Amino acid sequence: MVIKTANFVKSSGKWQDCPEPTIPEYAFIGRSNVGKSSLINAMMGHKDLAKTSGTPGKTQLINHFLVNEDWFLTDLPGYGYAKVSKSIRKDFEKLITNYILNRRNLVNLFVLVDSRHTPQKIDLEFIQWCGESGVPFSIVFTKVDKLKPNIAIQNVEHYKNELHKTWEDLPEMYVTSAEKKIGGEEILAFIQKTNEFLKNNNVSFDE
Ligand code: GTP
Ligand code: MG
Repeated sequence: MVIKTANFVKSSGKWQDCPEPTIPEYAFIGRSNVGKSSLINAMMGHKDLAKTSGTPGKTQLINHFLVNEDWFLTDLPGYGYAKVSKSIRKDFEKLITNYILNRRNLVNLFVLVDSRHTPQKIDLEFIQWCGESGVPFSIVFTKVDKLKPNIAIQNVEHYKNELHKTWEDLPEMYVTSAEKKIGGEEILAFIQKTNEFLKNNNVSFDE
């Protein structure tokens, strides 16, 4: 997909404040610092569209970007940020889960996990929740530039094996690096294909 325009629309503190849900939406989620905002920037070819930081907990609101005047790309706050109090963490979880369950134009959630680690409990629990809640999602491995290719392949296989313990059908998976601009094209191709399908089938998000 060619990115002609990518513009910040607004930041929202709750799902009710998000922009009108009239066009398809795709959201990035994952634990704090996994690289959500960086991958959005890499895919959009725009260094500073979404705010990034080496310190976890940078994105604290739901951020909407309008792409090609046609669909929304959404940057969500990370889950599992350890350095805030339990009650604030709970507030974030609520913000995220309410958004996911209520946003009726949300077509697919991209769950980002760090390609360097073995499957983490918090990510597996979130993926489990998506599956049980009927939320359509894909898994995106991030920061693959930090790994030797054979280790990256091993880690993805490890993830598949872990998920196969619970699920027969596995979600789509993407291996990416914001740093080296790897994998973003594949995600955009999926989004393009999905948008075309929605258009061809006259899918509307009206209530
Ligand atoms: P929160 O907003 O805090 O939830 O974090 P986030 O998931 O949006 O992460 P962000 O994009 O801010 O990136 C966190 C850190 O990881 C930054 O220091 C980035 O430079 C670094 N980073 C992100 N993507 C990559 C990547 O593909 N490769 C490398 N080497 N570093 C990356
Ligand atoms: Mg962020």
